Amino acid sequence: MTMVKKEIFCYNHSAMKILAIETSCDETAIAVLEIKGKTTTPKITRLAHSIASQIELHAQYGGVFPMMAKREHAKAFVPLLLASLRKAKLAKKSKKALPEKIIAKVRSTLEREPEMSDTMVAFLSEIAQPSIDVIAVTTGPGLEPALWVGVNAAKALALAWGIPIIGVNHMEGHVLSVLVQEKRKGQKTFTAEKLHFPVLSLLVSGGHTELVLMKDWRHYKKIGATRDDAAGEAFDKVARMLELPYPGGPKISALAHTQRGKNVIPKEYALPRPMITSNDFDFSFSGLKTAVLYLLKKISVHTDEIKAHIAHEFENAVVEVLTHKTLRALKKYKCATLVVGGGVASNTHLRTTLTREVKKTFPKMKVYFPEKELATDNAFMIGIAGYFEYLKTKKGKRPESLRAQGNLSL
Ligand code: KG4
Ligand code: ZN
Repeated sequence: MTMVKKEIFCYNHSAMKILAIETSCDETAIAVLEIKGKTTTPKITRLAHSIASQIELHAQYGGVFPMMAKREHAKAFVPLLLASLRKAKLAKKSKKALPEKIIAKVRSTLEREPEMSDTMVAFLSEIAQPSIDVIAVTTGPGLEPALWVGVNAAKALALAWGIPIIGVNHMEGHVLSVLVQEKRKGQKTFTAEKLHFPVLSLLVSGGHTELVLMKDWRHYKKIGATRDDAAGEAFDKVARMLELPYPGGPKISALAHTQRGKNVIPKEYALPRPMITSNDFDFSFSGLKTAVLYLLKKISVHTDEIKAHIAHEFENAVVEVLTHKTLRALKKYKCATLVVGGGVASNTHLRTTLTREVKKTFPKMKVYFPEKELATDNAFMIGIAGYFEYLKTKKGKRPESLRAQGNLSL
């Protein structure tokens, strides 16, 4: 009789370093992660975590234009890469000339990113190959022209350094990064949480509003999503109506906060709670945004106080709908853990309301929110998701095969 030995996957690597890249929207972000220990209990150290934000530029136009975002990413990328490697103490001067063959490969990879081609060749000529083992890069979802900048930059680096590349789903980054917790505040060393399944993720960002069920580690099933605007998008659009700058979420939240607890919202500013009682897990925020528009049209003078009432009521409406649907999903799928991710997860009212309501109904539920600086887009989360994907395949992809996919889903 032949004995079948079951291979238990426990890979104890001494230390590996990941360069993570994120360019899906309006932040060029780069992180360097060092990961030590067993796969089940990795110790993750954030050696660098840099973001070049385009917010000021896009704020002038009230939103993000994909081609403008692409150009800005291409301009920002190499300086940010150099700064990140310096921060991680991995930028050493090169003693060798960069081979012509590599230069040609890099130039052809960056054919569509002319703003980056010269700076990338100069960087590769000047800086010796750092001890990076894998490159993780967001391939989607997001603005395709913007995504391609990160993907092409990652390809050029992977080709020049002869290392593998991992394509990462941005939304998975938002989920998994919440599940690693800083051991002690400010220490920059993180460990993975022991997870209790099923896990429900509420993902709320500028492009997405989704409820995703994870019955097992990294097995995702979308159970509901917005039928029109995403929650963050609604925040941004309503902010514009209230003459607040882009991105609107934090501005509306701050304005709403000036009213919160002080007084009740006058009845005439009441807004709908779209789909709150619908029998599914979908959302719709477009009607809510239109309701704000009509309300503002009805009022002749928009005083600061009126705007604050509307911001307060709008934030309440979004938070109530998100909380209600999340609670129903937790109940229906008998979940043990709730993860909230995406830019809107930094909203204080959402954090307190959702936590309070969940704890009231399910006292034992584990609830995870990202730290505020990790709620909005960053590359650390891409490095985390890239690490787990790397463990699965134990090798990355060949750089040539990687593609950006604007509508990639979980
Ligand atoms: O995840 P993220 O950084 O980028 C996308 O992948 O979309 O999310 C950005 C979104 C923007 O719509 C922004 O207005 C919203 O998150 N946001 C907030 C807050 N901070 C950021 N929305 C509500 N309250 C906040 N405090
Ligand atoms: Zn995001």
